[in-house]
Parts: sequence; C-alpha cells; structure tokens
Amino acid sequence: MHSMLKSVQLVEHAVVMGVCMFSIQKALVTGGSSGIGKAIVDSLLREGCEVISVSRTVLPVTSFATGGALHQIACDITDDQALGQAFEKVSTLTSSLDILFSNAGYGIAGAIADTPKELVARQFDVNLFSSIEVIRNSLAYLEAAKGRIILTSSVAAVVSLPYQSFYSCTKASLNMLALALNTELKQAGIRVIAVMPGDVATPFTNNRDKYACPEATCDDRCGQSIAKMEHDERTGAEPEVIAKRIIRIAKKGNPKPLYGLGFFYRSVLVVFKILPVRLSNLIIGWLYG
Ligand SMILES: NC(=O)c1ccc[n+]([C@@H]2O[C@H](COP(=O)([O-])OP(=O)(O)OC[C@H]3O[C@@H](n4cnc5c(N)ncnc54)[C@H](OP(=O)(O)O)[C@@H]3O)[C@@H](O)[C@H]2O)c1
Repeated sequence: MHSMLKSVQLVEHAVVMGVCMFSIQKALVTGGSSGIGKAIVDSLLREGCEVISVSRTVLPVTSFATGGALHQIACDITDDQALGQAFEKVSTLTSSLDILFSNAGYGIAGAIADTPKELVARQFDVNLFSSIEVIRNSLAYLEAAKGRIILTSSVAAVVSLPYQSFYSCTKASLNMLALALNTELKQAGIRVIAVMPGDVATPFTNNRDKYACPEATCDDRCGQSIAKMEHDERTGAEPEVIAKRIIRIAKKGNPKPLYGLGFFYRSVLVVFKILPVRLSNLIIGWLYG
C-alpha cells in the first residue's frame, strides 16, 4: 500500500513538473534586431514582458510590437569592451533575468580548403565564443531568478553541411555547451536548452558571408550547394512561427536540453540518429554535395 502511494505521488510530481509552466517576465535577447530574435522580442513584448535587446543595430521603437517594456542596447558581442559596457547598462536596468535568449549569429559559406582562417575565426567568434561571453555575463542575473538560457542552435548542428561546415561546427558546439552547462548550472537552478530550427526565411540568407564561395555556375559545387540551401531558407518557416515554438519550449515545466523545431525537422533528427552514419552522410552529399 505504502509503495503504491509513493508511486502515485511520484507520477503526480512528474505530471506537475511537466505541466507547471515557467513564467517569463524579464528577458535578454541577443540578435533582437532581426529575424528570429526580433520575432522573440515582439512576442515577449506582446505578453507584457520587460525585454533587453542586444545587437549592433538599434531600431526605431515603433518597429517593435507594443506592450511590455523594451530596452535596446547597441553592442557588437564580439567586442569585449562593448559587451562589458552593455552589461553595465543591464545592471542599471535590473538585478535579475528570467531568461537569456542567446540567439545572435550568422553563417559563412565556402569549402573547408578555400576558407581563410580569419573568416573561420569570425564565424566561431560570433556564434560560439561571444555566446559564451554573453552567458558568463548573464549568470548572476539568471541565478537570481533561477532562470533559463536558450541557445539558438540549428539542425546543421546534427546534419553537417558541406560548404557550411564551420557554421555546422559552431552550432554543434552550442549543443555540447547546452548539455554540459545543464549539469554545471544545476546547483544554481539554471536550465539550459539548445533549440534547433531548420530553414527560416530571415535576412540570415542575405547576410551569409560568401567570400569563399563564388556564385553558382554549372561546374561550381559550392555555389550550387549554397544556391539550393538559400532557396530552402527563402521558402522556409516564418520567423514568427519559430519564435512561438521557441517561447513555448522556454516555458515548459521540465524541458529537455535539446529540441528540433517543427515536425519535419524533428523527424529529420530522429532519422539521422537511426541511420548508419555512412548512409546519412551519403544522403547529405546527394542533396548538398
Ligand atoms: N534563418 C535560418 O534559416 C536559421 C536556421 C537555423 C538557425 N538559425 C540561427 O538563428 C539565429 C538568428 O538568425 P536569423 O535567421 O534570425 O538571422 P538574422 O535575421 O540575420 O538575425 C541575426 C541577428 O544576430 C545579430 N548579430 C549578428 N552578429 C552580431 C554581433 N556581432 N553582435 C551582436 N549581434 C549580432 C544581428 O543583429 P545586428 O546585425 O543588428 O548586429 C541580428 O539581430 C542565428 O544564430 C542563426 O544561426 C537561423
């Protein structure tokens, strides 16, 4: 009888953990000036949240949704001094943050053999190293609220893309970071989640640095591969839809550390887990090689 009661209590606890929603009042979003990040900012503002948006561009306030309170901080997150100053401003605005959306990022294109070291370094600097710095600067604020960190990773973290390998590497690193951070920050009560969107129609496509990848010609594999990828992105999901999914995950009572976004991309991730790696890599070669 006693053990049955205990089992019922355990199930009840699991249900409560799963159903009980995490509430967001104060958020910091990097890359809040465009695409997915801006859609996250807009969604949170509509819900009445206080949002600090950090990006190099400061937009007219009228371009954001109304409701809540918006603070924009202009900052290149790769600039340590600027990032320090940005967090000085954050300290004048709040002593706690419920959530950090570490979302700023961009992509480069080019064969591994042709991409100059400086471009590779910049890619890692924006997408990975600066994300780590933003997280480090946010920890005290997040600990104060037993908050959350959401990293915008990508399906490219699991599916290594030819001619975008460095982008894939940075996103795979973010997934690893989320897993390890979850353990390291458990004591502090901070949960970390990496979300993996697939193709999303945002300025990301036009902002891709294609220095090492010439325009598509019939005998240029890199150009053709990127042209195909760009077509998929331009016809991809609306950032507003993706932002809604990310926020829904961010509010889950007991979230997993990694999420694919949308039925199609979740299925792709499952298939890639099941298939022998030689076969899955072959398929990607056919599609984008
Ligand atoms: N679009 C897709 O298909 C797709 C798919 C999977 C994952 N993602 C990821 O989603 C995230 C958002 O991308 P998006 O599609 O929304 O692209 P986007 O519209 O180009 O937005 C990128 C954002 O990052 C900011 N940013 C870039 N470099 C920065 C820097 N050095 N310092 C501060 N802010 C910086 C940009 O702001 P400023 O230019 O104003 O600085 C902008 O707000 C990225 O991490 C991307 O890798 C995108």
